[in-house]
Amino acid sequence: MSEIYSEIIGTGSYLPEKIVTNEDLSKVVDTSDEWIFTRTGIKERRVADDGEYTSDLSARAISDALKNANVSVDDVDLLIVATITPDLVFPATACIVQKKLGLKNAVVFDIQAACSGFVYGLTVADAMIKSGQYKTAVVVGAETLSRITDWTDRTTCVLFGDGAGAAVLRATSKKTGILSYSIKSDGNYVDILKATGGPSMTKTSGNIYMEGKEVFKLAVARMPEISKEVVAKAGYTMADVDCFIPHQANVRIIDAALKNLDIPEEKVVKSIQSHGNISSACIPLALNIATKNGQLKKGDKVLLTAMGAGFTWGSVFLEF
Ligand code: COA
Repeated sequence: MSEIYSEIIGTGSYLPEKIVTNEDLSKVVDTSDEWIFTRTGIKERRVADDGEYTSDLSARAISDALKNANVSVDDVDLLIVATITPDLVFPATACIVQKKLGLKNAVVFDIQAACSGFVYGLTVADAMIKSGQYKTAVVVGAETLSRITDWTDRTTCVLFGDGAGAAVLRATSKKTGILSYSIKSDGNYVDILKATGGPSMTKTSGNIYMEGKEVFKLAVARMPEISKEVVAKAGYTMADVDCFIPHQANVRIIDAALKNLDIPEEKVVKSIQSHGNISSACIPLALNIATKNGQLKKGDKVLLTAMGAGFTWGSVFLEF
């Protein structure tokens, strides 16, 4: 039997309308546009409306991706929602999205791997497609982090935002799409980045706890390491990477990775400036932005690398 591959046939995204600029935040906490921009690369972030939840953002991004992929809701047989801000403790946000979109032929579930959620989701979808039992999968990363953000804590509230990004994957017998991946976790780091609030629909006050410097150091070390691993695993070198889409947590982490990997600036997608860190949504959102603005073209070799709370980290190397 010939091998089955999973190719991305469409991407989509959704950002809530409300924009909160660095200037706006400087009126609420003791900070400045200059501090936030130079330390993180962020200029503004989006905040969901009162009645807008992670399932709503997911549904919008998925609809956009299905339209761009020219796939009908009835064709979707697998939906994976990656989120750390589910609407409720249960049922899964994926079930709420299934109802909202009428995905009647899909098996659906959530995964929780923080900022690595979309990368983890792609690897799970790829394995399920490779099993031969699923043909058309949707992976969405969606967050309403504004609901668990402590808006009085300047060390964290300037970093996060809300939004969603999605990709549609289809089984193919052609050697294309996902070529290699690696995902890792290390529970020894549970205490350096965590939140005890949520879920998104309850009006809990925010409480993200983060040891920023420790997180920074881990990201700078692990992201290049795993990137090199997956590119080599697929039989390529860094020079073959046409487009690098790292998790958008801090522009200084991205720049350190570029330097370590010797990837030139024109090959990286940086969208953090206009949306901040949206955890699992960052990579699919950046993927969609790069597709729309022409930075990413059919046939390009793409490297996706993320790192997040847990700690979790992972990379996917694919032909777009
Ligand atoms: N505005 C102004 N000053 C701020 C501030 C803000 N929003 N946040 C912190 N500061 C202050 C601190 O209180 C500190 O003051 P002090 O020197 O008087 O104590 C000073 O700025 C430096 O803070 P520090 O934490 O050392 O800054 P940093 O250079 O490490 O940058 C982060 C902080 C959070 C931007 C950085 O550590 C980071 O990006 N970490 C990784 C975050 C991340 O990736 N999280 C998600 C993982 S998926």
